[in-house]
Amino acid sequence: MHELIPSPRRVADIPPSGLYVLDDETLIEAGPGTEGVARWLRTTVGAATGLPLEPGGDSDNRIVLTVDPAVERQLGPEGYRIVVDGYALRIDGGSAAGLFWAAQTFRQMLGPEAFRRAPVNPRREWTVPRVVVEDAPRFAWRGVLLDVARHFMPKDGVLRYLDLLAAHKLNVLHLHLTDDQGWRVEIERYPRLTEVGAWRARTKVGHRASPLWDERPHGGYYTKDDIREIVAYAAERHITVVPEIDVPGHSQAAIAAYPELGNTDVIDTTALSVWDTWGVNPNVLAPTDNTLAFYENVLAEVLELFPSPFVHIGGDECPKEQWKASPAAQARTAAEGLADEDELQSWFIRHFDRWLAGRGRRLVGWDEILEGRRPGGSLSPGATVSSWRGFAGGIAAARAGHDVVMCPEQQVYLDHRQAAGPDEPVPIGYVRTLEDVYRFEPVPPELTQEQAAHVLGAQANLWTEVMETQQRVDYQAFPRLAAFAETVWSALPAPGRRDYADFARRMGAHYRRLDALGVDYRPPGGPRPWQRRPGVLGRPIEGAPPIV
Ligand code: ACM
Repeated sequence: MHELIPSPRRVADIPPSGLYVLDDETLIEAGPGTEGVARWLRTTVGAATGLPLEPGGDSDNRIVLTVDPAVERQLGPEGYRIVVDGYALRIDGGSAAGLFWAAQTFRQMLGPEAFRRAPVNPRREWTVPRVVVEDAPRFAWRGVLLDVARHFMPKDGVLRYLDLLAAHKLNVLHLHLTDDQGWRVEIERYPRLTEVGAWRARTKVGHRASPLWDERPHGGYYTKDDIREIVAYAAERHITVVPEIDVPGHSQAAIAAYPELGNTDVIDTTALSVWDTWGVNPNVLAPTDNTLAFYENVLAEVLELFPSPFVHIGGDECPKEQWKASPAAQARTAAEGLADEDELQSWFIRHFDRWLAGRGRRLVGWDEILEGRRPGGSLSPGATVSSWRGFAGGIAAARAGHDVVMCPEQQVYLDHRQAAGPDEPVPIGYVRTLEDVYRFEPVPPELTQEQAAHVLGAQANLWTEVMETQQRVDYQAFPRLAAFAETVWSALPAPGRRDYADFARRMGAHYRRLDALGVDYRPPGGPRPWQRRPGVLGRPIEGAPPIV
């Protein structure tokens, strides 16, 4: 019985049963296209084990890395096969990505100590069992959203999260870079976005109804070189970084920096500062030519930094009160022949949809981007929906022929509490336990097979209003992200129910891996005393909708 997470498609012992021993003489023979994975094995597994893993092919005692078109044909580009028999240890990938996921499996086979950064027991022998592993992911989009706007995560923390994603075979990092509470990416043309927009004077502690404030200034942003480093580090791990620049709502930090972006005929936007509390904010972008040009210029710099085919432009939670009150917004609505403010929002989104499509990129937006469209006012075929308010937006999108990333807040918003007990830190949202997340099924039964093919995958979202440090993010993310990883990587067992008892058994080994990685997860028995936040108000929602 294996202890791998996520569970592979097939693991079988190779008789006679036994162990393959790795030692100081073990070489890595790296075939064409496998150099990056060889480097990762040498630097990461080599550091943990103390094994030199020198390059070479002149020995039976070697790991052979190959990109194999036959594996690609059988298991797809992200598929792989590991064969450990009495001879060399062979790892074949359908592509370099498949080979990299194989390397993650191989590290798990070595044991928890292989997840440390230096050997804790230099004289120990390193072995892996004689097995064949065949594996491939269920979905191409296995994502995590990190909200670095509400609480900034310094660059080192993002790089660490990329390693944690890689260890779970997750391959998309959706970086929520802008919001009312902060602008986190350097834009050379508009320096005030970070000079003004990257910090706030103080911060609400807990839910917005809480009376508590942290009176320390909070902030930070990524320079362009920080972003280049993050993107390159991700690419070495076969992870795509999808940037999000959220418009036309969630924009108060940008308006604080450049007041002309707001509805200046409704409020005095020069009086706005970066928002210091939480919730849905009425101060949204003005639908003017100036705003469109400004964000085109921002996005032009974003496209230079992020090679991702997908660029997220938000589109969620845009209150319409200011547009209703704004003569300029009303004039724009009339000039464009739009019926109302919902159509005005759709017009705004479609502008950037066309702009991105014209530059060979695909727009992704929250499921509100489906609203307010006039007949003929369609999104480009590549436009993709992040379905967050449940499955309905995703179902509508798939039926309309758009691709979908499923991230329903009722299931995979990992800022929501993971137990009902009074000790959960700053409890918000629904109770979603490790088992609940494990039972998350991204493809709704209503979809036909053809429509279901539009479900690119799913995403777990880590919103950080009440997660002010890396430890808090760890606590909310883990262990549930391990369960999520299995829902997006591992095939759904026929007849359709996942075996939670077996997952829980394998989690025994996985907690040891997380310990070795230094992850501040929620222990199965509940938070440790220092993981609690007594006295900080949350907003638990009772009566969670059932998991389908
Ligand atoms: C969202 O949670 N507002 C996308």
